[in-house]
Amino acid sequence: MVKIGNLELGDYPLLLAPMEDVSDPPFRAVCKQNGADLMYTEFISSEGLIRDAAKSVQKLDIFDYEKPIGIQIFGNEIESMREAAEIVEEAKPDILDINYGCPVNKVACKGAGAGILLDIDKMVSMTAEIVKAVKIPVTVKTRLGWDNDTIRIVEVAERLQDVGIQAISIHARTRKQMYKGEADWSYLNLVKDNPRLHIPVFGNGDIDTPERAAEYKAKYNVDGMMIGRASIGYPWIFNEIKHYLSTGEKLAAPTLDERIAVAKKHLDFSVEWKGEKLGILEMRRHYTNYFRGMPNFKQYRTEMVTSDTYEEVCAILDQVAKVYADYEFSV
Ligand SMILES: Cc1cc2nc3c(=O)[nH]c(=O)nc-3n(C[C@H](O)[C@H](O)[C@H](O)COP(=O)(O)O)c2cc1C
Repeated sequence: MVKIGNLELGDYPLLLAPMEDVSDPPFRAVCKQNGADLMYTEFISSEGLIRDAAKSVQKLDIFDYEKPIGIQIFGNEIESMREAAEIVEEAKPDILDINYGCPVNKVACKGAGAGILLDIDKMVSMTAEIVKAVKIPVTVKTRLGWDNDTIRIVEVAERLQDVGIQAISIHARTRKQMYKGEADWSYLNLVKDNPRLHIPVFGNGDIDTPERAAEYKAKYNVDGMMIGRASIGYPWIFNEIKHYLSTGEKLAAPTLDERIAVAKKHLDFSVEWKGEKLGILEMRRHYTNYFRGMPNFKQYRTEMVTSDTYEEVCAILDQVAKVYADYEFSV
């Protein structure tokens, strides 16, 4: 049984990765329904929280049915991160997660996110202050290093454990790689081989099919996996992987009715949550995967991603339901 503090997460938990403008309440609702064992919010700026910026504060909203859930923060100032951690704790998540992995310039080049991998002493001090500031378990999400010459992930994991983090998720790429090349999970085995390390280690990077999850589970000795991009528009990935890991067999692909029902639930919640304009806009990246594998779908996809109103998108979904009523998805 994998545990973070008192939270029991099963034998091989599958985590929904924190993803900006993706891992919001509407998307988390459909991931939870489809087997995610632990979910994280998108990252929240510590400075934004302290300033009480509406956009940051809204990201603290979590619901009981989502539990267990972690809220993730990022920032480059120890004092601001400590203060933000206290604000997060008031929102009553199960976990506070620190982002030490974001590679984008506006974050990493200011020393936040993956930028802190260039100053590991500061990373350790910041983490120690945050752990001291809150009672809930603190976890960390990070990358292997800044670039190939600065990979010190074995030492980093141990030092962060020693100042009190209770789990670590590692995206097995460097900051320099951004999202390019393949994630190199062999470093995760080195982290797990450290006899001093006892906290759970979750592997992250490139898990996109049940087969790959099974292959990586066999090859790399991690305690669970975190899934990001493959879940976008395809929340079924969690249950599909779980089923394959436990039986060696693939679940039938979601039916058209299921796809439409889940896309509709996601859309409704998005519009309710963010308002019509933003709700519709941020749904667009999900449609390709919701309807993946359907022949001659391009026309409908184009219509979905160019529609500006809720009614228009619903009308297209209704049309898709009719046109593809007899279509059978293959696994
Ligand atoms: C659109 C998008 C937004 C992301 N936002 C965050 C974030 O807010 N916090 C974070 O720690 N990682 C973020 N990531 C990185 C993912 O959590 C994950 O580490 C990465 O996508 C690799 O996993 P994957 O191959 O399963 O997608 C983001 C990734 C994507 C694609």
